[in-house]
Amino acid sequence: MSVFREGLYRGKSVFVTGGSSGINLRIAEAFGLAGARVAINGRNVDKLTAAVEGLKAKGIDASGYAADVREYRTLDEALARVAPLDVLVCGAAGNFPSPAVMMSSNGFKAVLEIDVLGTFNACRAAFEKMNKPGACVINISAPQATVPYPMQAHVCAAKAGVDMLTKTLAMEWGGAGVRVNSISPGPIAETEGMERLAPDAASRDKLAQALPLQRFGKKDDVAQLALFLASDAASYVTGSVFTVDGGMSLVGGGLFAHLSS
Ligand code: COA
Repeated sequence: MSVFREGLYRGKSVFVTGGSSGINLRIAEAFGLAGARVAINGRNVDKLTAAVEGLKAKGIDASGYAADVREYRTLDEALARVAPLDVLVCGAAGNFPSPAVMMSSNGFKAVLEIDVLGTFNACRAAFEKMNKPGACVINISAPQATVPYPMQAHVCAAKAGVDMLTKTLAMEWGGAGVRVNSISPGPIAETEGMERLAPDAASRDKLAQALPLQRFGKKDDVAQLALFLASDAASYVTGSVFTVDGGMSLVGGGLFAHLSS
């Protein structure tokens, strides 16, 4: 259910990196259902095509652009084709669980480059193509940005970097009327991340019971916050990180201590 009025984003252009699946696809869909022209980006062409077809089947004006966010030029070309842009959502991210001593230097680098460099590349390429003033960036962060998790040295370092990008770009781009914020989703049901952190029903139940709201969130919980942050209702909001986590950040990373055993 959306509290936002129908057609709120009519005439607006939205670009979502890593938009072929999961939370990012749901964000793209929410903007599309609110009237926006939506472009999604992903590396896997088949997955991207299927996602675009799914969006179109819901009546959304959608297109897909295959690009690795680590490669500036292809991303820049994709963004040029959807300009002028009103909303950029940087959601492309990498993750695999591994103790730091088992992780190769290249594995660490892959996640840093997808998350931090990929977010920088998308923001950097998008800025000159944005409808200013009034455009905004939403970077998708994670609880790992502030809470240390075992098996996640790469993601913790990367997401902390993403949030600092959010804050520095908010300072540099505020004068141009471009707002930059992060959303940090906690345990959201039916996502790759949660499948990895809590792969079976017993571990999911245990984790849910430890949360203040005692349940996992929905992808739409994140999408609705994105709709708010990109709207005029949030016109004085920039440089902030918003958690959508059922209160998990109040409990802390101890919830995942079992992963190191
Ligand atoms: N465990 C340990 N190392 C891994 C790994 C895993 N499961 N998956 C990849 N790596 C390492 C590779 O071994 C390689 O290092 P090496 O050259 O020293 O062997 C390095 O990471 C790069 O791997 P590569 O296969 O070239 O892929 P990539 O650079 O395109 O990206 C991932 C690899 C894993 C980061 C990426 O495919 C990914 O993130 N996939 C999952 C997406 C996802 O879950 N998104 C949601 C985020 S919550």
